[in-house]
Amino acid sequence: MSVGAQSRTKKLLESNTMELKIYKDKNKVAEQFSTYFANKVEEASTFHVALSGGSTPKVVFDVLSENFSDKINWSKVHFYWGDERCVLPTDEQSNYKMTVDHLFSKIAVPRFNIHRILGESDPIPEAMRYANLLEINLDRVEGIPQFDLVILGMGDDGHTASIFPHEIGLWDAEDHCVVATHPESGQKRVSINGKVINTAKEVTFLVTGAGKAEKVKAIVEKTEGFEAYPASLVNPDSGNLVWFMDKDAASQLSPNPA
Ligand code: 6PG
Repeated sequence: MSVGAQSRTKKLLESNTMELKIYKDKNKVAEQFSTYFANKVEEASTFHVALSGGSTPKVVFDVLSENFSDKINWSKVHFYWGDERCVLPTDEQSNYKMTVDHLFSKIAVPRFNIHRILGESDPIPEAMRYANLLEINLDRVEGIPQFDLVILGMGDDGHTASIFPHEIGLWDAEDHCVVATHPESGQKRVSINGKVINTAKEVTFLVTGAGKAEKVKAIVEKTEGFEAYPASLVNPDSGNLVWFMDKDAASQLSPNPA
């Protein structure tokens, strides 16, 4: 195990507080998270949130747009992304497009509150541009931009944001934003790095479906080889890490709380 991995594992084993919120299905997860999100925004004067792509956030956006469109003061919320596919903003694979379709097209959010990663741009300069934008827009803690909330998904392979197991070293990149490569498709992605994620005031995972259960068990219970999964490295300095899961994703945890 490399020295970096050793230090990572040691930190994880020493201090990794997390709260698990387990609900019966994806819709209940979305409802409960939406209430949680609305309360966080209510408490803030301005709220800087990094969004995730994926199937669970899509349901969350549907719930937010249907049930909270007039309950949240959207002018307080500034939207960013933890990762974006390097595609046009009109492409079906764009995390930004998914958010427009399921949320922004249905709520009164000021356009200047939306800070998308330009998937259509050259990835390397775009990663630098976005990193600079985060430095300008967000408070910094020891030079690292600090989000109020980072929302993450987790792939079946244990990736999070767009940090995949085959290039887990990107987690510790010096730059706030990195260029990642999807292991199967080769698609380029721009992603925030581990330091930005772990500097956030709060991090929430949105993880549903039986396909996640094996990795959830490995990461939550720190079973053999857990440190190979980027999602296992999420360990915010604030100690505020909450997993919103359905029973299927939590089904292999012991004792099975689901
Ligand atoms: C992306 C997401 C990615 C996602 C996971 C989980 O751009 O693909 O940011 O990290 O959260 O792949 O996706 P599901 O929730 O659809 O399983």
